[in-house]
Amino acid sequence: MSFRTLDNADLAGKRALVRVDFNVPMADGKITDDTRLRAALPTISRLRAGGAKVILLSHFDRPKGVRVPSMSLAPVAPPLSNLIGLEVRFVDDCIGDKVAQAVSAMGEGDVILLENLRFHPGEEKNDPAFAAALAANGDLYVNDAFSAAHRAHASTEAIAHILPAYAGEAMRRELEALEAALGSPRRPVMGIVGGSKVSSKLDLLNNLVTKLDRLAIGGGMANTFLHAQGHEVGDSYCEAGLADTAREIMARAEASGCELLLPIDIVVAERAAPGAAARVRELDQIDEDERILDAGPRTIARLDAAMDDSRTLIWNGPLGVFEVPPFDAGTTAAARHAGALAKTGRLIAVAGGGDTVAALNHAGAADEFTFVSTAGGAFLEWMEGKTLPGVAALQDCNAGVNMTGKI
Ligand code: 3PG
Repeated sequence: MSFRTLDNADLAGKRALVRVDFNVPMADGKITDDTRLRAALPTISRLRAGGAKVILLSHFDRPKGVRVPSMSLAPVAPPLSNLIGLEVRFVDDCIGDKVAQAVSAMGEGDVILLENLRFHPGEEKNDPAFAAALAANGDLYVNDAFSAAHRAHASTEAIAHILPAYAGEAMRRELEALEAALGSPRRPVMGIVGGSKVSSKLDLLNNLVTKLDRLAIGGGMANTFLHAQGHEVGDSYCEAGLADTAREIMARAEASGCELLLPIDIVVAERAAPGAAARVRELDQIDEDERILDAGPRTIARLDAAMDDSRTLIWNGPLGVFEVPPFDAGTTAAARHAGALAKTGRLIAVAGGGDTVAALNHAGAADEFTFVSTAGGAFLEWMEGKTLPGVAALQDCNAGVNMTGKI
């Protein structure tokens, strides 16, 4: 994969339109987690250091093409200003005269934030005219929003064909990590996939069993596999109607030489309540009114040994109901083991998608992983082997260009 990166880019005096993902968690108009703001800082500071004028573009939530005041990006400007150490001016539209005037008043190193792209219907329609209106305020385009790259929208796709397009620093790190995990990984490469629904991860499981040397399945979705193998699962969450699908995935794994690691012991209780009496059971030793809520200690020990024997790990989804102690024990133990191996450099450990970041943070292991993606849907689609339009556009539009970076 070749992309133009900001290495050696001529930035002085240039108007850089930077697609970031400031779709951040917010409560009562205040940001509750600024991870995605921090993720944009390396690109912003690199552009400022090069003398560019930085114009930030983002979506927030899903206003569906109309102006919804509660979905304004205005509350993002003050915390962003604090992080950058410079006042970030907010402009309450992302195209048109107001933006043109604000941009023409900018000096080198200034940063402005434009209003939610999705207030305009052209954004989600990938409308070339809307992309051209965005592009009118820039000399170059930088995509730093991997987490929005699974959307073929005007600010992620069409615009990359209008202006010289670059991968930002966060995009570049993300693509490098993903390439190291599934593109050309050090082998053996292992996956851990958890979470509750097999139905939402069919494409992902089908792709992974053809790419990995071993795949551990945990969380609620493991119950469906255990059921498909003929084990009792009591009152556990289980997609019984997907038993055939689970058997097909197991057959595909076997045909591809991917070792599947399903739970060999389980932690059960009548319900997932904090401090509920958790019991460790062998498979099939489950009462009708009991639910499987975590992986058992022998299962975790086997996962740890499999990680010891792997050189690359890709992780998506918790192994149990990690939000409700004591059913966090399995996820926490396995995450800490992976983190400890990654810290020594023995294991390249990459994680992302949905609840995964929260689970690793809960375990205190996120910082030890080689890379933790802040992307949700984009990370999953990438694990499914799909082409991400925002990434493909960065490649296509640069075809024939003398690349400064290779990912
Ligand atoms: C995300 O939070 O995963 C991205 O910002 C994408 O948001 P979307 O699912 O609304 O496109």
